Amino acid sequence: MRMIDLILAKRNGKEHSKDDIKFLIEGLMDHTVADYQMSSWLMAVCWRGMTMDETAALTDAMANSGQVLDLSDVGSIVGDKHSTGGVGDKTTLVFVPMLAALGIPMAKLSGRGLGHTGGTIDKLEAIPGFDCSLPIDKFIAQVKKIGAAIAGQTQELAPADGKIYALRDVTGTVESIPLIAASVMSKKIAAGSNLIILDVKCGAGAFMSTEAEASELARTMVEVGRRLNRPVSAVVTDMDQPLGNAVGHTVEVIEAIETLKGRGPADLHELCLALGSLALITAGKARNEADAREQLKNVLHSGAALRKFVELVEAQGGDPKVVDDYSLMPQAKIHFEMKVPGKTPLWISGLHGKRIAEACKLMGAGRSKKGDPINMAVGVVLHGKVGSCLQPGESVATVYADNEAQLQLACKVIESGIEYSTEKVDVPPVIRAMIGAPAAV
Ligand code: URA
Repeated sequence: MRMIDLILAKRNGKEHSKDDIKFLIEGLMDHTVADYQMSSWLMAVCWRGMTMDETAALTDAMANSGQVLDLSDVGSIVGDKHSTGGVGDKTTLVFVPMLAALGIPMAKLSGRGLGHTGGTIDKLEAIPGFDCSLPIDKFIAQVKKIGAAIAGQTQELAPADGKIYALRDVTGTVESIPLIAASVMSKKIAAGSNLIILDVKCGAGAFMSTEAEASELARTMVEVGRRLNRPVSAVVTDMDQPLGNAVGHTVEVIEAIETLKGRGPADLHELCLALGSLALITAGKARNEADAREQLKNVLHSGAALRKFVELVEAQGGDPKVVDDYSLMPQAKIHFEMKVPGKTPLWISGLHGKRIAEACKLMGAGRSKKGDPINMAVGVVLHGKVGSCLQPGESVATVYADNEAQLQLACKVIESGIEYSTEKVDVPPVIRAMIGAPAAV
């Protein structure tokens, strides 16, 4: 078998066998398949797609490119959650400690920024000392000890996804249902949990711009999970506008901590309650949605979820004082207030997530090439969301930059991403659809 033949086959719309896919992933891992060949194949998949058999085989091969953890001695239920990527999505930073505080061990394998979207691992690195590169024994020991760990790809867990992810990020090969499904599900399978909640983002700031595409991605992942004996539940959620108000690394960690303190923005708070309820009901830890929400609100109000976050930060080498002193995280030199135009009150009718993400990238918050450093301090904090009414001259956003020229460029892009209306605009719902009934574990 030769890689060139697989590239040509996919380019010409042919279906790969399980052995073809095994060859490709093994070749990537032992360097007999070069990065440029893999990138070319990824582009062919973007154009030609994959069948469900191919997607399940790719997921399986990627999951088995490293170890597949057996977490049975951690507990009968071990939870995990994954988002397909969006702008301002810091849900994991709230969801993991909330569920862990309710006694569900959380073994979370997360990613770095991909395309225009931010990654949980990059965000956590805004906390001085925080280390996401946990070796497996430490990852498992930490979940056993404090009930939660958040780790990035290592050479040990789904390393093929780590390599493919970094290539997709810089070769325009992110927006593909089978590639996203295999990437997400391979990590979930490798990490060994059996309570998997997927948050499939849909809209202008997501990889799937329509609800129909996002639902197809959700159904694909549910089906891959079924075929590989790892039942998952998926929720399709809104990503037309950024989630919460903050976009960037330091500013998103601050917003997540504020949410754990019970002071988070309404949409982020609601999403955490919705995903958390699904997890508690699926795990048999809540009788119904009302019971689940009550339990989740209790761990926020009692401070138990915040204390679990502090434990998690300490366990992974981070400075726990950040929860009381946000200035310990990287700070931008320039804080610029962007004002609402005109002379009459205006409702925000559109906040284009991708443009806001692009503005952050222009200020250094994203990568252009594999392995580029990123600036943790820059970002945007919105002072209104779709449906908010703002007065003329009020600040619609604070832009955090480290350099004047980048600030000017970013502001232009942000301005082009905000739409106003003189008429009242309704607040859009954050939850769009549920795919796959809660599966008992
Ligand atoms: N999250 C992942 O882990 N992989 C993707 O491809 C997209 C989002």
